[in-house]
Amino acid sequence: MAQTQTELPRIGGDSEFVQFWNEVLGPKFNRFRHILVGGLTHHSEAVFPKLPVHEGDRVVDVGCGWGDTAMKLARLVGPKGSVVGIDCCDMFLDIARDELAETDLENVTFVRGDAEVALPEDAFDFAFARFGTMFFANPVAGLRNMRRALRPGGRMVHIVWRDPNDNPWLSMAKDVVLRFLPPPGEGARTCGPGPFSMADEVTVRKMMEIAGFEQIRFERIDAPVLIGRNVQDAIAFQLAVGPAGEVFREAGEEADAKRPQIEAALAEAIDRQRRESEGIVMDSSSWMISARRPAD
Ligand SMILES: C[S@@+](CC[C@H](N)C(=O)[O-])C[C@H]1O[C@@H](n2cnc3c(N)ncnc32)[C@H](O)[C@@H]1O
Repeated sequence: MAQTQTELPRIGGDSEFVQFWNEVLGPKFNRFRHILVGGLTHHSEAVFPKLPVHEGDRVVDVGCGWGDTAMKLARLVGPKGSVVGIDCCDMFLDIARDELAETDLENVTFVRGDAEVALPEDAFDFAFARFGTMFFANPVAGLRNMRRALRPGGRMVHIVWRDPNDNPWLSMAKDVVLRFLPPPGEGARTCGPGPFSMADEVTVRKMMEIAGFEQIRFERIDAPVLIGRNVQDAIAFQLAVGPAGEVFREAGEEADAKRPQIEAALAEAIDRQRRESEGIVMDSSSWMISARRPAD
């Protein structure tokens, strides 16, 4: 694949989920980037020292977002290697490209595309995704696409959230909001299957087997994450993104009318998580899932 290509072919136009990332989630994620990147980085920091990445490798970072992991991978592979960061959201890629321009890295390309349906084949030694695969509308198809993007014997690592019960930083606020508002209906606009769609080890192992991977391993990572500098910051975050944000957004006018009660209930629940001088910190838990494309 030419390293200068910045857009993958769009097959039949953007999916409804890709449109949702661009139209709805992009601005919200940008607003809370300080919380999101900080929290997600705890999980990749635990994983990076173990990654099977070598100098000179060709790497793809699927759902690369603002590009920080792609740039970190680029340091690991060195100038003889290369990294392609692929994301479907233009707003994130604009930031990634601006920040790349501030570095001395010459081996990173950011590409706009739907990684579920369009990746170059046999092009990479290693595929990485930090919280990017759980949004594939058809996860087996998306994972198969990632397997095909690897050379025979190539490896992949993706990080996904574990069970909501082990992720109160995302689930607790949803429980509070559901005391006041109905769950999202069948027709709700979403970002795809959602953050917990790959939480179940047995199901995801099977998906990866069907997608053609071998040597599939799961390793649990637990980390405290900051959900806000203070209670107000945390409430704004919870009502904008994640499962609580989805319930709130979908409830429309009813949510606006009940905002004062919801914010008061959230303030009470969130205030219990306050840690002196650190802000609001809650537990989170992910899987590092590693696998290999068979050597043929
Ligand atoms: C939770 S964010 C994680 C971003 C980044 N990996 C990080 O850890 O900061 C999920 C990312 O996946 C991207 N994404 C979702 N579905 C995608 C798809 N089908 N193809 C490419 N990117 C996708 C979103 O635009 C978003 O940037």
